[in-house]
Amino acid sequence: MSLLTIDNAACKGCGICIQACPVSIISMSDDKTPFVSAEKEKRCVLCGHCESICPDSALKHNHLPEMAPIRREKLKEVTPDNIAEYFRSRRSIRAFLPKKVEKETLEEVIDIVRYAPTGVNRQMNRWVVVSDSQTIRQLGEGVIAWMKAMIPVNPELAKRLNFAGLVAAFERGNDVICRNAPHLVIGYTETAYSTGAKDNTIAASHLELLLPAFGLGGCWAGYLMVALQFSPDLKKVIGLNDSYTVHSALMVGYPKYRYFKTPQRKEAQVNWM
Ligand SMILES: Cc1cc2nc3c(=O)[nH]c(=O)nc-3n(C[C@H](O)[C@H](O)[C@H](O)COP(=O)(O)O)c2cc1C
Repeated sequence: MSLLTIDNAACKGCGICIQACPVSIISMSDDKTPFVSAEKEKRCVLCGHCESICPDSALKHNHLPEMAPIRREKLKEVTPDNIAEYFRSRRSIRAFLPKKVEKETLEEVIDIVRYAPTGVNRQMNRWVVVSDSQTIRQLGEGVIAWMKAMIPVNPELAKRLNFAGLVAAFERGNDVICRNAPHLVIGYTETAYSTGAKDNTIAASHLELLLPAFGLGGCWAGYLMVALQFSPDLKKVIGLNDSYTVHSALMVGYPKYRYFKTPQRKEAQVNWM
């Protein structure tokens, strides 16, 4: 079966699908019908832009499942003002209610994140959701053990990231690593996947931004993320071997407190050219 099916009665030959294709494999036939030649088909990245941009529903991509129509009425409330308020009011949440989030809610958030951009549309992001409190504790302790081991090995890094202070705080009972979060969402990809770090960081950032819409909050668990990148033993705790690399780690839960003000941030540094 060819890559595209064109409904000739509906197609006006506008060529928008040709312009939208990121890999430029769609051509226009002499009779004004878009087509992909057999030798170009394998370059398709399955992004679906050709079908989803067609204003006349005249194009069907035969290697993709049925597409859901965009519900424009839902987007009416996404005004620049509303979304700016939403983005600016996002805060890193470090104090959580002692309550687990329903699995369905976490599933829903992770499901939305599938729509984040990925290099060449490869969609290779994977996630580990840790909800077992003992495992979360084990990971926190593992990070501390890794930091202790790193202090003599890489004193410069240890000093820059204040490992000694973090170890002391943790040993005093202050969970500065996972903040007693009820869940950890850890993002990873296959190690061999070249755009894994960027794809997964973008997706994790989408995930963090989505949380407030679900009444949730989160915070990057940077120390955990770095320790998981450097310590194969710690990576084993979440069931991963060398074939996989961790790129993100978020603490997630219901926020214990609300914020009432937005702290100022540095001016944007932009070179306008
Ligand atoms: C890559 C990265 C790693 C981070 N790691 C931690 C962390 O380990 N622990 C923590 O409490 N906050 C961590 N944060 C949160 C930052 O401290 C926070 O984003 C910053 O202070 C600004 O606050 P805001 O997110 O509320 O605007 C991290 C943020 C990023 C982007």
